[in-house]
Amino acid sequence: MLDGKKIVLGVSGGIAAYKAAALTSKLIQAGAEVKVIMTESAQKFVAPTTFQALSRQPVYRDTFNEQDPSQIQHIDVADWADLFLLAPATANIIGKLSGGIADDMLTTTLLATEVPVYLAPAMNVHMYSHPAVMKNMKQLDEWGFKFIEPGEGYLACGYVGKGRLEEPETIVQVLEEEHKKKQLLKGVKVLITAGPTREKIDPVRFFTNPSTGKMGYALARQASFFGADVTLVSGPVDLPTPGGVHRIDVTTAEEMYQQVLEHYHTSDLVIKSAAVADYRPRVTYDHKMKKSPGDYVVEMERTKDILMELGERKEHQYLIGFAAETQDVEDYGRQKLEKKNLDAIVVNNVSEKGAGFGHDTNVSLWLTKDGDKKAFPLMSKEELAKNILEESARHIKDGSS
Ligand code: CTP
Repeated sequence: MLDGKKIVLGVSGGIAAYKAAALTSKLIQAGAEVKVIMTESAQKFVAPTTFQALSRQPVYRDTFNEQDPSQIQHIDVADWADLFLLAPATANIIGKLSGGIADDMLTTTLLATEVPVYLAPAMNVHMYSHPAVMKNMKQLDEWGFKFIEPGEGYLACGYVGKGRLEEPETIVQVLEEEHKKKQLLKGVKVLITAGPTREKIDPVRFFTNPSTGKMGYALARQASFFGADVTLVSGPVDLPTPGGVHRIDVTTAEEMYQQVLEHYHTSDLVIKSAAVADYRPRVTYDHKMKKSPGDYVVEMERTKDILMELGERKEHQYLIGFAAETQDVEDYGRQKLEKKNLDAIVVNNVSEKGAGFGHDTNVSLWLTKDGDKKAFPLMSKEELAKNILEESARHIKDGSS
């Protein structure tokens, strides 16, 4: 299942380092090529020769131990990898990584790599639940690092609880499943819109909405993870660009319209999760407006309904829209699906707790033009993004678009 996969295994200094030896062996048996990097403290638990013998590769320990003058070792190893696995990942390495510290071979390589990084934490139960460690893990999660959660049970420190390195067999299984998922949208060109738009009155004032872009960014991150070629047209948001995603920044609904149309023709799957302004001021002033006594009325005009136009111009694309409803969710959802000639719609029930703008979670209903219906209960936007993409991949492969 991991045939020919080039895996860099980072081993940091915890007692679970001994399990990393079995993990190396299992990865090799699954067909992977493995290069091991050890921290100085990891070497206090297991000898590098163990990993060398199991991986049949040199074990990397020192950034400055440059054997080949034609290469810079940590960059070379980072570029060689298809995947990076950190097992065990101690509280210390998690902290260093989330703080951008690069002071040894492992951390310099980790900062230099562009491939997916999986962390399998292992530490004392209280260390694992410490707010500093939690905060660091949350940060890494937001940046797209993947976690293979520790199991619960007897810990070497004598405590019983969460913090035990996941078993090597399970770690290999997780990687195999993730590898399978990466084939899901391989070669598919995905166009996603995210965030709000801003419609100016003058240089210092505009109309907008509270969209944070989290849903669209989760979709972009997951689509890229599923192997798609992703273009993200984004309104003004405060989020980092997910790895491997081509991001185009726009401000107004008109700019979003232009960019989306430019990329529509060559896209296979189009997901419109942006909260586009329906109206904009009829007049935008070049200079700041001065206040004067009495009320001020802004005349608004309609923006283009981008999704509607995409529906009208649809060729081969699988087109997905979003809608926000507070009542008769299914009826209103189906009406929008038909009116805009969509293949599917994700209707967010924003009257539910935890759904809608700014939340990390959503409650939604997936409806397709073929009559499929699936309720997605309260779940994280990342989880919802995965579900939407899995459904889309199934429909694209069935040729039902
Ligand atoms: N949309 C768009 N262009 C607009 C407005 C909306 O492309 N000018 C897209 C959004 O990206 C989203 C969907 O249309 O995918 C939302 O549809 P809309 O009809 O605006 O639904 P609601 O926001 O739920 O609005 P309403 O119920 O007020 O019609």
